[in-house]
Amino acid sequence: METVHIEGVELHLTEPDEVPMTWVGQPDLVTQVQAAWLVIGEEDFPLNPRLIGKPGVGKTTLAYHAGRSLNKPVYLFQATMDTRPEDLIVTPVISEGGTIKYMASSIVSAMIKGGVAVIDEGNRMSEKSWASLAPLLDNRRYVESVVAGIKIKAHPEFRLCTTMNDDASTFELPEYIHSRLQPQIYIDFPERDEELLILRKNLPFADEEILEYVVEFLQAAHEADERYSVRDGINIARYALKRVISSEQSTSGTKTSATILNYLKEAASLILDEGAINYFNDLLDEMSDEQ
Ligand SMILES: Nc1ncnc2c1ncn2[C@@H]1O[C@H](COP(=O)(O)OP(=O)(O)OP(=O)(O)O)[C@@H](O)[C@H]1O
Ligand SMILES: [Mg+2]
Repeated sequence: METVHIEGVELHLTEPDEVPMTWVGQPDLVTQVQAAWLVIGEEDFPLNPRLIGKPGVGKTTLAYHAGRSLNKPVYLFQATMDTRPEDLIVTPVISEGGTIKYMASSIVSAMIKGGVAVIDEGNRMSEKSWASLAPLLDNRRYVESVVAGIKIKAHPEFRLCTTMNDDASTFELPEYIHSRLQPQIYIDFPERDEELLILRKNLPFADEEILEYVVEFLQAAHEADERYSVRDGINIARYALKRVISSEQSTSGTKTSATILNYLKEAASLILDEGAINYFNDLLDEMSDEQ
C-alpha cells in the first residue's frame, strides 16, 4: 500500500478503481463533463460537474468513463446517509502494533495522485459531510483533516464530479454547496439506436432478437413516462437469457420467439412489476398483426 508524508504525518493511500464501465452513445455528455474539468488559463480552476438523472440511466458509468478516457486514475466514493466528514478525508485505524494508522479516503487519494474523484450518489450525504469539502470545491483546492491535524492540497491534475438522483434526496443541500457543484449535466433516457448500443455493449453474448425486444420494451416504457431504465432492461434480458439456457438443459428443441417473449415477460414481472408485462404483450400483438 502506497504511503505519502504530509506535514510529517504518514498517510496510506487507497488504490483507484478498475471497473469494466464503458459509456456508449450520447458523446456530447462526455464532452460536457470533460469541458467542465478544463483549465484554460493562469487564474482558472476546474469546475465540479453534478450528473443528474433518474436511477439507472448511466450516471456512474458516465462519470467513470469521462475520467478514464482522459487516462486518469478514477476513485469512486459511495456516499451514504451515514457518511461522516472524516470518512471523506482521513480515518484513523489501530494497526497491529497498537499505533494509529491514517488512511486516506478515495477522495484524498485522488487529490494526492492527481486523479478523478467521483462522489457517487452525493445527495445521500448530509450537509455536514459536504461542508468539509467546501474548500476543495472552490479555488482553495484543499481539505483539512481534523483527525490527522493536517491540511492536504490537491494536485493540479485533480478533478471531481458527483452523481445525484433527480428523485427524492435524503438531504436538501444548501445553496453554498449547490453553487460549488456546477454545471448540472442532465442525463435523459437514450434514443432507440443508442439504447440498443448500450444493451449490446453490456450483453455481448445475447442474440440480437432478445436485444430488439428489450429495446422496444424500453422505448415504449419511456414514451409512457415509466421509470424503467436501461439497467432494468439489462437485468430483464440477463434473467430471460438464463431462463432460456436452463430450460434448454432440461428440455430439448429450439426456442421460438414466443418462448423468448414469455421469459422476458416473466423477467419483467419479477424485476419490475406486473404492469411491465403489458409492454411485452403490446409487442406480441404487433408481431401477430404483421404476420
Ligand atoms: N450510455 C451507457 N453506456 C454504457 N452502459 C450504460 C449506459 N447507460 C447505462 N448503462 C448501463 O446501465 C446500467 C446502469 O448504469 P449506472 O449504474 O451508471 O446508472 P446510474 O444512473 O448511476 O444508476 P443509479 O442511479 O442507480 O446509481 C449499467 O449496467 C451500465 O453499464
Ligand atoms: Mg450510480
